[in-house]
Amino acid sequence: MLKGRHLINSEDFSTEEIQSIISLAQKIIASPQRFSHCCDGKLLGTLFFEPSTRTRLSFEAAMLRLGGRVIGFADESSSSSTKGESLVDTIRTVASYADLLAMRHTKEGSSFLASSVCPVPLINAGDGGHQHPTQTLTDLLTIVEAKGQPEGLCVGFCGDLKFGRTVHSLVKAMSRYPDNRFIFISPKELHIPNHIKIELDRLGVEYREIERLEEVIDELDVLYMTRVQKERFFNEADYIRLKDSYILDKKKLRSAKKDLAILHPLPRVNEIHPEVDSDPRALYFRQVGYGMYARMALIIKVLGVEEC
Ligand code: NCD
Repeated sequence: MLKGRHLINSEDFSTEEIQSIISLAQKIIASPQRFSHCCDGKLLGTLFFEPSTRTRLSFEAAMLRLGGRVIGFADESSSSSTKGESLVDTIRTVASYADLLAMRHTKEGSSFLASSVCPVPLINAGDGGHQHPTQTLTDLLTIVEAKGQPEGLCVGFCGDLKFGRTVHSLVKAMSRYPDNRFIFISPKELHIPNHIKIELDRLGVEYREIERLEEVIDELDVLYMTRVQKERFFNEADYIRLKDSYILDKKKLRSAKKDLAILHPLPRVNEIHPEVDSDPRALYFRQVGYGMYARMALIIKVLGVEEC
């Protein structure tokens, strides 16, 4: 039962619960008009303390397409946090107006803290370099649509695996399905955090870490590209040194499988050359569209309005 639940980390929901969201998203894709009044009279509050294009707009589009309405802010400077209001007071305030909240914040753990005072479902739309579970729902839906199931896959994660919250959430979610193995492709400065490797070891999930994409691209069923997370670097020189570590182009894809699925949470900076966009294996713009359907399904589930 997902009604009334918060979603802070991608492990908060069981694989069955995640599957029920993916299945509902697929039903919505097949006949969106059937769901266009599910959220009549309901209000979503969006609190974005950090920039966003896709996540905020897809949450808003999702609620509007379900018949609901949206309030919120897209920029910390237009909220009372600039007057010194604490996060928990802001949450208590908006939660007394809205039926559910989606929040993005610069600080790791902020969504967890916010959820502890929030009487309505609170969805983490990204907390610093920690997690981004609704991107994971989007990614899983994309993988299921492309591969039929999120299991038995060799998944390459490439780029900024240290600060990339979408990677952390997706690795944790995919490690729960059988027979997935992971290849982490990054410069050593941007390795996946140790706590995630400890968890994979505990679960007995196979993984390895390498630096060169070319060495493994032919093994991959899914390639998850990410940008180097400029805003999380302490030092500009380090960012400049690492920002172009990977650029996926047609040449690198020559040895890749014919049915490779190339994903990217976007925004892209330089890590995928635009010449790849027309390759049928490039799924990242389809993935953007799935984000809205995944969030529609999530909203329906946490509001408990499935019988609309
Ligand atoms: C990601 C994020 O915000 O973590 N973007 C998104 O939500 N689609 C990825 C990123 O910013 O690199």
